[in-house]
Amino acid sequence: MRELGAHSKTSETVSKPLVLILMGPPGAGKGTQARMLEDRFGLIQLSTGDLLRGAVAAGTPAGLAASSVMQAGGLVSDEIVLAVLQDRLAEPDVAHGVILDGFPRTQGQAAALDGLLARSGLSVTAAISLEVEDEAMIARVAGRYTCAACGEGYHDDFKHPVKAGVCDKCGGTAFKRRADDTAETARARLEAYHAQTAPLIAHYGRHGVLETVDAMGDIASVGSALGAIVQRISA
Ligand code: AP5
Repeated sequence: MRELGAHSKTSETVSKPLVLILMGPPGAGKGTQARMLEDRFGLIQLSTGDLLRGAVAAGTPAGLAASSVMQAGGLVSDEIVLAVLQDRLAEPDVAHGVILDGFPRTQGQAAALDGLLARSGLSVTAAISLEVEDEAMIARVAGRYTCAACGEGYHDDFKHPVKAGVCDKCGGTAFKRRADDTAETARARLEAYHAQTAPLIAHYGRHGVLETVDAMGDIASVGSALGAIVQRISA
């Protein structure tokens, strides 16, 4: 991983490089909120789900190995996830601070992350757990769609483009839905979250970097709560 350094900000200044982890079950709003924090604070969103979907689409060996696991709602092996993440972390734009969206998801990934950061003299600034009820998560996942061009997220009930059929962010007019956003797969993903990822909440609590946010409110109110945390921990 390249060294992170303090950076000049687009809109709001963060005085030191941050390593933020966004945790939460599928549909908690990790991707939605990570993109909002990216826009607001100039941090870079690193989503292992997006990286893996990119590998699947590109037909790389990692993507071929991950595809069936993702389709079934299980967790891809630590080895594959770390391989795709390390490639991305080596790119220069992450030097200003990162939001890890959906990573780490296992104890092994958490330990590997600590090792990667330590090489740059860094550690996790905050692990933010988005707390959401299981049934709300199923509804959020089932109604989700994204802009095919820029990835901006929308929802059939909770977030429409301002102009119907046109992406607010890039003006794109093509949208797509994820293959793993069926109710059945969403329940499998939720089980994987409770069994393998939720224990990391206590892990980061023991390390004194845990923050929790009630993510049952609307997108703007969750964003306000997260923004306040980022302002506080970066002061
Ligand atoms: P990943 O892509 O990370 O999926 P996920 O964790 O299941 O999370 P989602 O993307 O479904 O939800 P989100 O929390 O980002 O919600 P969003 O903001 O989109 O992983 C996919 C798969 O890849 C995994 O199942 C696994 O196989 C593999 N994988 C990835 N990382 C891995 C790792 N580290 N290790 C092993 N395997 C890995 O919001 C959802 C919808 O709700 C949107 O439509 C949004 O508009 C709406 N919404 C958001 N917030 C609100 C709100 N407050 N109120 C109302 N609606 C809202």
